[in-house]
This record gives sequence, structure tokens and C-alpha cells, in this order.
Amino acid sequence: MMGQRGLGQSAGVPPSRREFLRRLGSGAVAGSMAASVAGVAAGRATEGRVRHRTLGKTGLEVSEIGFGGHSWAYPRVPTGNGGFRRPTVDEAVEMLAAGLDMGVNFIDACTPHEEHIVPGQALKRLGKRDQMIISGRCCHKMKGRPQDKEEVYKFVDERLRMWQIEHFDLLMLTNTENDTPQSGLWDMSYSIEALEKLKQQGKIRFAGFGAHFTPAGFLYAFKHYAKDFDVCSLPYNIRHRVAEQIMPVAKKVGLGVVTIKPFARGSLLKGHEEEPGLARDMISFVLENPNLDVCICGVHTIEHVRENFSASWTALTPERRQRLEGLAARTPCPQHRWLEEGWLHA
Ligand SMILES: NC(=O)c1ccc[n+]([C@@H]2O[C@H](COP(=O)([O-])OP(=O)(O)OC[C@H]3O[C@@H](n4cnc5c(N)ncnc54)[C@H](OP(=O)(O)O)[C@@H]3O)[C@@H](O)[C@H]2O)c1
Repeated sequence: MMGQRGLGQSAGVPPSRREFLRRLGSGAVAGSMAASVAGVAAGRATEGRVRHRTLGKTGLEVSEIGFGGHSWAYPRVPTGNGGFRRPTVDEAVEMLAAGLDMGVNFIDACTPHEEHIVPGQALKRLGKRDQMIISGRCCHKMKGRPQDKEEVYKFVDERLRMWQIEHFDLLMLTNTENDTPQSGLWDMSYSIEALEKLKQQGKIRFAGFGAHFTPAGFLYAFKHYAKDFDVCSLPYNIRHRVAEQIMPVAKKVGLGVVTIKPFARGSLLKGHEEEPGLARDMISFVLENPNLDVCICGVHTIEHVRENFSASWTALTPERRQRLEGLAARTPCPQHRWLEEGWLHA
């Protein structure tokens, strides 16, 4: 069911980006957005509310869009004088509160060491830890060495302290693009032992893995390790679409699916920053796929939050899809070699 066009979709003269963002932040938005609701899930989308999906065998009901961990990690907030800085705790409070108001309940914790403190402090100030599913990412190499277990325990204890929480709802083991099967990547036995112990200790509830595996690596991991994990995390956006073949397999083995990089870390938006609704449409595209449960995106400002989460109730029109596909085809992302080489075509 597709009604009138949403903000930023071509109905006569499209609004400027500034006007688009102003309207997103105003009370009037919900009404005008309502008419643009796609209702991907059988017309159940409600304006101003992010829909929920079930995260595989965890059974957790998660918002289909979540906060990315890089949101707090990189200095990407314009300072107004040509520079950039990281979001402050006050800004994190504003962004998380806006997300929570829309029903967002998933936050990724993929952050370098020192910035872990920001989202934790913000959540504490809001008193809303219980309403958020916190997914930690342990950048552990999964090399299967005995000492790796100790690295995982240390990592988790340290991050729990920084987040000021008792447990992670989910812990995802994450390798890097330099890890290969030859380097021992696929012997996850010690990591799995560590995850089990952490579960017994009540420090994590569920376990997952991602993200820089090759597509073949994911299929291998599903075959050999699906029973040991609850969730997997992989890249998916309008340009890098191999996940379309992999996500159904993940679903089949019962894994929840968390996608990352809806904009290829912003590369797909570069040069089009003034185009209203482009980021939102890229997430709407991702959400059309029923085989994923949460799409996490990096957001640095309250405007990003308002725009990106509105994808949950905004349809992708055929014209806008065509626009995205054209853009994706002619926007190489050379800074992400692993994505370009492994994940480019479906
Ligand atoms: N190793 C891992 O496990 C791993 C790896 C990658 C990502 N992840 C997770 O996945 C999440 C998402 O991936 P990602 O952060 O790499 O990439 P992404 O979400 O594809 O891109 C985020 C970037 O897009 C831009 N952006 C976001 N919303 C926008 C909007 N409304 N308008 C204009 N620009 C907008 C921002 O760029 P600027 O603000 O810079 O302009 C932001 O830095 C991460 O935050 C992290 O939690 C995990």
C-alpha cells in the first residue's frame, strides 16, 4: 500500500535538505510521513515508530534499525569551522532518547576503547538500560589459541565497566579483513569455550560473529558453527549485495541477522549530502529484505537519527529505487577493498 509521497520523494518540487530535516524534527512530520508508509510487513508500519523483528533463535524482539557503534567513535560532528569532533554525552543522550521514543532498542558497541564510555554514560543518565539490547563487539582474532580465551574475558570485563552495565545482551566476535583461514581463523573452539563461560557467568546472554568474513567464510561458519552462535553480522547495502544470497542460509540455520554498512560507511552518500532522503532511502532498501533482523547505521547527529530511523515507515518508491541503483552502480568504494572485492554482486 503506497499512499502519497514522503518527504524527499519527488512530488513536484522536492524540499531542500534543510527543509527536509526541519520537517523531520517537527510534529508535523508524523502526519505527512503517515501517508508514505510502505507497510512492508503487511501494512503494519506506523509513522514515528520503528518496527520490530525477531532476532533469530535469541527470540529477542529488536527494532529493525539500530544505533551503530561507530556513531560515538569517530570525530564526524561538524564543528562549524571546518573541523570535526566526536558526539558529546549530552548529544548521545539526545540521540538515544529520540531513538527510544521511536521504539529503537538495539545498540551496537563496536567502538574503540576510550569511546565506550559515551553511550554507557548516556544510557545511564536516561535510566533506560533495560530498554536497550546492547550488542558488544569483541575484536578478537578467533585464531583458536588457548590464550585467546583470556583476551576475550579481559575484553568483556573492561567493556562492561566502561558501559557501566552488568551484562551484554549479545557479544559478537569480530575478525579483521587480514584474518584468513590459513591464519587459523576458522578454529573457533577456544572462542566458543570462552563464550560459554561468559554466558554461565551471566556476563553475556547471546553470542554472535561477524563481520569481515568473505562470503564463502560465512557459509563455512554457518555449516560448522551455527549451533554455537545465535546471531551473525554482515555487510549489506544497495551496492554490496552478496548478502542477499547468504542471509537466507543464516535464517535457515536459525541465526539472527544484523546488517552493517547501509551506506558503505558513508561512501555511498559522498557528494550527495544535500539530497533529501537519500540516507533514509538506502535504509528503506535494506529493510525490504525479510531475511535480516536489524540494520545498524552510524549516526553522528540528531538529524541523522531522525532521518535514518524514519526509513522504517517510509516506502521506497520505484523511482527512488531506480535512483539508488544508478547511484550504487557508479559509486565505487575503493577504501573498502574487502567489500568491493567480496560483496559487490548478488
Ligand atoms: N568490524 C565490525 O564489526 C564492524 C565494521 C563496520 C561496522 N560495524 C558496525 O556497523 C555500523 C554501521 O556501519 P558504518 O558505521 O561502518 O557505516 P554506515 O552506517 O554505512 O555509514 C555511517 C556514515 O554514514 C553517514 N551518515 C549516516 N547517516 C547519515 C545521514 N542521514 N545523512 C548523511 N550522512 C549520513 C555518516 O557519515 P559522516 O558523519 O562521516 O558524514 C556516518 O559516518 C557501525 O557503526 C558499527 O556498529 C561493525
